[in-house]
Amino acid sequence: MALRNILKEGDETLLKHCRPVTAFNDRLHILLDDMAETMMDAEGVGLAAPQVGILRRAVIVLETNVDEGEEPYIIELINPELIETGGEQEGPEGCLSVPGVYGWVKRPDYVKVRAQDRNGDFFEVEGVGLTARAFCHEIEHLDGHLFLEVSEHIMSDEELEAYYAQDGEA
Ligand code: CO
Repeated sequence: MALRNILKEGDETLLKHCRPVTAFNDRLHILLDDMAETMMDAEGVGLAAPQVGILRRAVIVLETNVDEGEEPYIIELINPELIETGGEQEGPEGCLSVPGVYGWVKRPDYVKVRAQDRNGDFFEVEGVGLTARAFCHEIEHLDGHLFLEVSEHIMSDEELEAYYAQDGEA
């Protein structure tokens, strides 16, 4: 596995439409492994292939809604499609391609995604809360969209501090 360079806002690659993955081969597996290492190194909860310069429909999301004592795990989504959404949440959202910037974004609180795994087999997966937010955010990357487009406003440091103080998080 190897760390890949995460493209930053301003790079035109991030604005492009990604093509479907058609070859479920070693090259895809290496990409997914590298993306996992890159995301964990950057302490993110999601990463899309275009963020590392690959214009293919592949994303990974860290599932953090796990039972106490269990480790978060990575969900790989190839050619993902949102097939169901429900509820609503709002809160700060960021992106590894837009470091240090958080915007207030409304998202569904529940989503169901249909995708293929790294071997091409279809499956469905549900996400709630942060995971639902990450599914939406990462899938939007595949069509060249950044969260800045759907953010109501960019949060100031003071707003962020107040939000997390109230939320009891660091
Ligand atoms: Co992002």
